[in-house]
Amino acid sequence: MKFDSKMRSLFLLSFLAVFAAFRAEDTGVESDELKVEEDTGADDQKLIYDEIEYKTPQLDANMYFVYEPFDDETKFNERWVKSQSTKAGSDEYKYNGEWALHESNKRLKGKLVSNSETRDRSLVMESKARHHAIGTKLLRNFDFNGQNLVVQYEVQFKNGQECGGAYLKLLSAPSGNLNSLNDKTPYSIMFGPDKCGNEHKLHFIFMHKNPLNGTLREIHWNKMNSVNKLDEVVKDGKWHIFRLVVRPDNSFEIQMDKKVVGKGSLLEDFSPPVNPPKEIDDPDDRKPEDWDEREKVPDPEAVKPEDWDENEPRKISDPKATKPSDWLEDEPENIPDPDAVKPADWDPDMDGEWEPPLISNPKCAKVSGCGPWKAPLIDNPKYKGKWKPPLIDNPNYKGKWAPRKIPNPDFFDDPNPYKMLPIDALAFELWIISSDVAFDNILITNSVDVANSVLDNTYQLKKDLIDAESDNWLLKTVKYTNKHPWLWVVYLILLAIPLILFIGYCCVTPGKGSRDIGHEKKYDTPAEDDSARFGISGDEPSPINREELSKESSDGNV
Ligand SMILES: *[C@@H]1O[C@H](CO)[C@@H](O)[C@H](O)[C@H]1NC(C)=O
Repeated sequence: MKFDSKMRSLFLLSFLAVFAAFRAEDTGVESDELKVEEDTGADDQKLIYDEIEYKTPQLDANMYFVYEPFDDETKFNERWVKSQSTKAGSDEYKYNGEWALHESNKRLKGKLVSNSETRDRSLVMESKARHHAIGTKLLRNFDFNGQNLVVQYEVQFKNGQECGGAYLKLLSAPSGNLNSLNDKTPYSIMFGPDKCGNEHKLHFIFMHKNPLNGTLREIHWNKMNSVNKLDEVVKDGKWHIFRLVVRPDNSFEIQMDKKVVGKGSLLEDFSPPVNPPKEIDDPDDRKPEDWDEREKVPDPEAVKPEDWDENEPRKISDPKATKPSDWLEDEPENIPDPDAVKPADWDPDMDGEWEPPLISNPKCAKVSGCGPWKAPLIDNPKYKGKWKPPLIDNPNYKGKWAPRKIPNPDFFDDPNPYKMLPIDALAFELWIISSDVAFDNILITNSVDVANSVLDNTYQLKKDLIDAESDNWLLKTVKYTNKHPWLWVVYLILLAIPLILFIGYCCVTPGKGSRDIGHEKKYDTPAEDDSARFGISGDEPSPINREELSKESSDGNV
């Protein structure tokens, strides 16, 4: 009787499990979402979400000044110019590092865009220990005339970086022919990461034009050395996105991977400061000879007290010490080794008289000590040392001397450093030690919304892919199930079965009633309780038809 009901329950359990598995197969739990895709590269096979599709973002030309996704090789070749600059005093190319388009991520599925296959490509600076320079013109000049400047681009240090930059230069108009691009080509802004040894920087440099004489000067963001986690960005081999926003109110904001890592004012957070100080120290002012800068002086009236004995020693023998009774005054501390023998080849003419080596006297080991006894030294209570007069406030003290201030002849006040020289091109002019630094989705616009939309359709996709790859199976399952909530019902039913069996065996008196009660519980009470607990609303259609289940299970019972 008991055996019989156990068997029936086991049968039911396996039937339900198989049923659930089939349901899952039908709707594609295994095949639709989590899938192993062959990677043509050297990477291992990886689980991916193949629902993520990449399409080259299509932007209206009036929304940006530059947008370069690098996906179309023909357009790239039309738009970008490699520098042909030569080394000083020779006709050798200075910028001999290679640039090439690579597929950014082979696991991103390219989709048909305007009837031609596009893949997600990026621009890669390929050569080790070489200078690289390349540039492109803006669609139209960017003028600092009341609009925001938004610069955004992605960087991937494929092999880390020993020493090298990955920053952009926004070239000042007129930048001329980009095939003569070099390190002297004037820029309005330089922005992006740079690393050498242990030093990591996120540069934001702008050129400021002196309104008095027109000379240009580099002004550096003063937190460039302290951007959190910049070292990881260089190390981790992943894509990272950088954004700079400069606003007409002279404020700026820097984001890295969608987090604000710097913000402030062009007038306050830069060095040297845009505006020179109003006054400066008079270079001709000298400290007068008799200027007394001593705050305290020895009291001239103090005299050494009569009883101050400068000759007392710092340490004395302890007068209270006594020789221990077992001290062996006549025993030497060391004795000649009685076991030592003269070496056979000892030559007294050459080596002198042989003497056995000394060893510590074994008799001393058992007592407090041997040899002449001396009392230990203690601090001398009468010790005073050299007498010094006490210090008093200096009656002639005049304070610290400082040169007098004069008006700064170079002073100017530029209230709007944001008004930089217009930009007509952007360029990379870089030197790297480690190879393969990739760039992607370079954007210059005046709209943060446009930048956000590009980010969502590019960087964010790659990030989601990578996150999905590093999720474990449990996280993947939860993510998938959240998209298909009815699956929770399947899990709950599967979970409920052992519980029901347990209740059926333990809490219900064995006998003829047990079967019916167990049966009811199986399909009604626990499942409903659990759905409520897990927040599944009752009116949501459940793909598992309970009637069908009961019918089938009763069939199984036959
Ligand atoms: C312009 O002024 C700055 C300081 O105000 C000075 O350092 C620089 O030498 C000047 N340049 C010229 C060309 O006069």
